[in-house]
Amino acid sequence: MQRVSASLPVFPWDTLADVTALARSHPDGIVDLSVGTPVDDVAPVIRDALAAASSAPGYPTTAGTPALRASAVAALYRRYGITGLAEHAVLPVIGTKELIAWLPTLLGLSPDDLVVVPELAYPTYEVGARLAGTPFVRADSLTQLGPQSPALVYLNSPSNPTGKVLGVDHLRKVVGWARERGVLVASDECYLGLGWEDRPLSVLHPDVCDGDHTGLLAIHSLSKTSSLAGYRAGFVAGDPSVVAELLAVRKHAGMMMPTPVQAAMGAALDDDEHEREQRARYERRRTVLKPALQGAGLTVDNSEAGLYIWATRGEPCRDTVAWLAQRGILVAPGEFYGPRGAQHVRVALTASDERIAAAVQRLTG
Ligand SMILES: Cc1ncc(COP(=O)(O)O)c(C=O)c1O
Repeated sequence: MQRVSASLPVFPWDTLADVTALARSHPDGIVDLSVGTPVDDVAPVIRDALAAASSAPGYPTTAGTPALRASAVAALYRRYGITGLAEHAVLPVIGTKELIAWLPTLLGLSPDDLVVVPELAYPTYEVGARLAGTPFVRADSLTQLGPQSPALVYLNSPSNPTGKVLGVDHLRKVVGWARERGVLVASDECYLGLGWEDRPLSVLHPDVCDGDHTGLLAIHSLSKTSSLAGYRAGFVAGDPSVVAELLAVRKHAGMMMPTPVQAAMGAALDDDEHEREQRARYERRRTVLKPALQGAGLTVDNSEAGLYIWATRGEPCRDTVAWLAQRGILVAPGEFYGPRGAQHVRVALTASDERIAAAVQRLTG
């Protein structure tokens, strides 16, 4: 028997131990902008819904309650202008990392298939391909693929790590190309609500897909928009036949969201107020942190949307990580996300206002 872990990449965060210790040794403490884990309180409306649903002796349904599915459809329309989605075209997942890590396996992809991931990408796309034993390539443009016809193409706009937004023309081109070839497009829309200098569009938006969701999946997480990373709450929406297939497999595999979390996620999707407040917090943090990084000599690239600032000092990323760690600021080396990130660092906006102010002071003082 072969160990599955042997086929997976080294967990990259383990390589940051030394710089973490260095940043921790700062007299005013560490400002950890590396992982992107939310720090703001969960909104009372969500916590109340969780508590009210806490007597849950029976099994939850894998499909999610009808109320939850309706809430997801309504929120996608209100927040992102997505139309034409039926409730059976939505499926809750136990955090979107879970779905992404297992999607190629759930879809039955094999070593003869191919998964396409962005050149700079959230590492779990690669992990999912490896778990299924399916080859993957990094490509941002269709011309890079040549005549190859992959089974699955990932999009991620706004991007983790770069904050780049894919324009409507690019999205339409990918959708049209994929349709001609029967390729499934999975659009990871984790940061869709965080557009700063650009307005990100869902792959399910009518301007992108002309109202036809065939061959399209949009992956939505509540971890960042509602600070629910600890609840493990997300959902996938799109092509009803693909969603039905995922549901059929997930039912057997026990991939069901706990009942109290379903209730909490429904409450989060029904309430736009807390989501707007969370967005405003990130915007405020970005407004002070971005110029502070630039003032300290870093060049900011892309970063027009999303939860991260993608910056460079024109040197190997590990040197920049060490330079910032000397100031007690911990960031992620760009190489975690692909070879093209070798000279960049990713700076997350996920720290308290007080910690962000401390970082700004250290960079400008
Ligand atoms: C691009 C992207 N997709 C998916 C996820 C996973 O989010 P979660 O599993 O919390 O829903 C993350 C988390 O940081 C991410 O950056």
